[in-house]
Amino acid sequence: MSDAIRFQDQVVIVTGAGGGLGRAHALLFAKHGAKVVVNDLGGSTNGEGANASAADKVVAEIRAAGGEAVANHDSVTDGSKIVQCALDSFGGIDVVVNNAGILRDKSFHKMEDADWDLVYKVHVEGAYKVTRAAWEHLREQQYGRVIFTASTSGIYGNFGQSNYGMAKLGLYGLTRTLAIEGRKNNVLVNAIAPTGGTRMTEGLIPPQVFEQLKPELVSPLVVYLGSNQCQDTGGLYEVGGGWMGKVRWERSLGAGFDPKTGFSPEDVADSWKQIGDFEGAAHPDDNVTALREMMANLQKHAG
Ligand SMILES: NC(=O)c1ccc[n+]([C@@H]2O[C@H](COP(=O)([O-])OP(=O)(O)OC[C@H]3O[C@@H](n4cnc5c(N)ncnc54)[C@H](O)[C@@H]3O)[C@@H](O)[C@H]2O)c1
Repeated sequence: MSDAIRFQDQVVIVTGAGGGLGRAHALLFAKHGAKVVVNDLGGSTNGEGANASAADKVVAEIRAAGGEAVANHDSVTDGSKIVQCALDSFGGIDVVVNNAGILRDKSFHKMEDADWDLVYKVHVEGAYKVTRAAWEHLREQQYGRVIFTASTSGIYGNFGQSNYGMAKLGLYGLTRTLAIEGRKNNVLVNAIAPTGGTRMTEGLIPPQVFEQLKPELVSPLVVYLGSNQCQDTGGLYEVGGGWMGKVRWERSLGAGFDPKTGFSPEDVADSWKQIGDFEGAAHPDDNVTALREMMANLQKHAG
């Protein structure tokens, strides 16, 4: 049995924590002793309006259960204000959970710039602004945990979600590089692709499944990733309904051609099966291992 996970004297920011998954994360962090900044603008699922009561209610719930929390009503696009709120209220910051999000679903031929831009702004720019403002504190104190919220719609694609999928997989790209940059300062960065029954998925998931996909079933993973027990970084985890698993890249060993003599599109066509053959595939974990087969091909044809 692992040691109990406690966040004694640790400060956690959860963005978009006024409802859905973020609320469940905030409640569980507080239950484990964290001081929580409950951030939420309180807008609609499509990113309109604002309402302070969403965050305030969650703070009241945490306090009623004996926990510590403050509300923050800034947009994640004003990330430095949220980080400042953590510093002013609790004197520090240890964990950032980037969770705030909206939807502007439309098939691509109907996509308008405003839908594309707003989804980018909340998910990508918002997560960037909050994390960027927290980053120097985490680096300086040689401790930090950052969690980004991706989506299976980004990993696999989903009809009507080109803007959302772009933003969500973009956050995994951000996770990969921040994991590399943060590692030496003990700032560990991971991403989740959750599924939960929230207002965002209401009507999209069949009602009986929706009921079973309680947001609370996602939070234990998030709290673990936010704890000092977690020593992994750069991971992507699908999670929901009481199940979770890790995602990794897989790339075929591919086909090599002679770079000096050159090769034609027909040569590519002739090797198409081999290019897509995943027998004995590689699972590159960094740029160096990703380039290994290419470098081997250059070496094979050198001289
Ligand atoms: N529910 C799912 O199945 C699912 C699947 C994949 C990814 N996600 C992601 O999980 C996260 C949480 O989603 P949810 O399902 O709990 O939806 P939700 O709508 O219940 O929660 C999102 C919260 O973010 C807040 N928010 C929106 N814009 C904000 C901004 N600019 N600043 C601060 N707060 C803002 C909203 O007010 C809301 O409370 C989102 O990033 C979402 O994209 C959810």
